[in-house]
Amino acid sequence: MNLVIVGTQWGDEGKGKIIDILSKEVNYIVRYQGGSNAGHTVVTNGKEYIFHLIPSGILHKDKICCIGNGVVVDPQALIKEIKDLAKAHIYIDRRLKISSLAHVILPYHKVLDQLRETRRTNKIGTTGRGIGPCYADKINRCGIRMVDLLNPGVFKEKLKDNLKEKNEIFKKVYRHVGFGFSSIYKDYLNYGKYLSKYTCNIAILLNKATQDKKDILFEGAQGTFLDIDFGSYPFVTSSSATAGGACVGTGLSPVKIDKVVGIAKAYTTRVGEGPFPTEFPPVFAKFIREKGNEFGATTGRPRRCGWFDSVMVKEAILLNSISELAIMKLDVLDGLKTIKICIAYKYKGKLFKEFPDDLEAAKSAKPVYKEMPGWERTINKVRRYQDLPLNAQRYISRLQDVLNTKISMVSVGSSREDTIFI
Ligand code: GDP
Ligand code: IMO
Ligand code: MG
Repeated sequence: MNLVIVGTQWGDEGKGKIIDILSKEVNYIVRYQGGSNAGHTVVTNGKEYIFHLIPSGILHKDKICCIGNGVVVDPQALIKEIKDLAKAHIYIDRRLKISSLAHVILPYHKVLDQLRETRRTNKIGTTGRGIGPCYADKINRCGIRMVDLLNPGVFKEKLKDNLKEKNEIFKKVYRHVGFGFSSIYKDYLNYGKYLSKYTCNIAILLNKATQDKKDILFEGAQGTFLDIDFGSYPFVTSSSATAGGACVGTGLSPVKIDKVVGIAKAYTTRVGEGPFPTEFPPVFAKFIREKGNEFGATTGRPRRCGWFDSVMVKEAILLNSISELAIMKLDVLDGLKTIKICIAYKYKGKLFKEFPDDLEAAKSAKPVYKEMPGWERTINKVRRYQDLPLNAQRYISRLQDVLNTKISMVSVGSSREDTIFI
């Protein structure tokens, strides 16, 4: 069974936790898009691991973890992750595979990402990891791939070409001194050498694995509403976070995907700028942020918080063909008198049941809520659905009805064990 895991909101839904749990059932875990903008948290035996590029299944000792061609690789960040895992006595030399076709993030991508943000009137609030500029180079056909780092001649020519053009832009547009050739060339050849033992043809590896009846889990990063096409553009990331990205980002055909599981928080969060119809007012936002520890796993930035938006999640279910959902962080809603679910928006006197494509409408849309009573009790130790407080069961059951999709997991804490399977 080949399975895709996708975020249904604006990222940070708790994908890492569920990917780690479901990794037990598969042979391969594969990242297909994004880069070190992602921060996926896995908590086990009281220890917290945050993965940026390495797939979240890596803690399972017999699993192969792949980074597909659709990912943009910051070699420095990746090497740090590999070394940090080794320090924790987790050795991955024979289990990590990186696509030779994956594009490489270079220092000028990161600086350009940050400079662009300072200049934009409508800031995106990027993670500053160089993601957008690297994908732009890929599409512009001037990108540098993992395989290029293994060929000094090809790399030299490509890097020289890039620097010639980019340094002009840095100097003339951004009043930045630009980048010298030698140190980047030397450093990245070394990174290439270090990573060469992991670099291979992932498309062939995975297609052979499916022929051998092996099971693959595709790990989505970010979320449906950060997808470059279907997200709240331009406040999105630069890759295809939706399930379709799993095919172009790995080289496995759509007919090989059996199932898509969606991950949704019991409320909504967003890091960075952009429309957020159900966003809480500041005081309540601060309360939930602290209760749910809603601070970015990559940048540490405070996450914006709001009520569960069923309009968004319904659209994510449609776009990704999600057949099952995991509802995360239900425990964070403990002790609330009332809980709200957004079921539509109002804009200019009209009712909308879809997330508006028009930016102005998305910014001004007023949520229409269904209210439900909350529950008093702490649910972190509950392991069976029927042991949840009645109002918590009613909330989950209402979500299931509104979304018309099976909820198969409910998460009540950050650890592996804090999970209810329905
Ligand atoms: P991802 O990017 O989707 O993998 O999610 P992140 O790791 O960025 O953010 C999810 C955060 O919530 C992490 O700190 C997790 O440890 C934590 N978490 C996951 N599930 C639960 C849960 O059910 N309850 C609580 N309280 N925390 C959770
Ligand atoms: P995971 O995989 C939440 C957001 C950034 C910004 C926008 C563009 O942990 O869910 P980028 O650096 O990608 O160009 O930034 O996307 N963003 C995320 N938000 N979780 C993520 O990843 C994110 N990756 C990017 O905050 O708004
Ligand atoms: Mg995250």
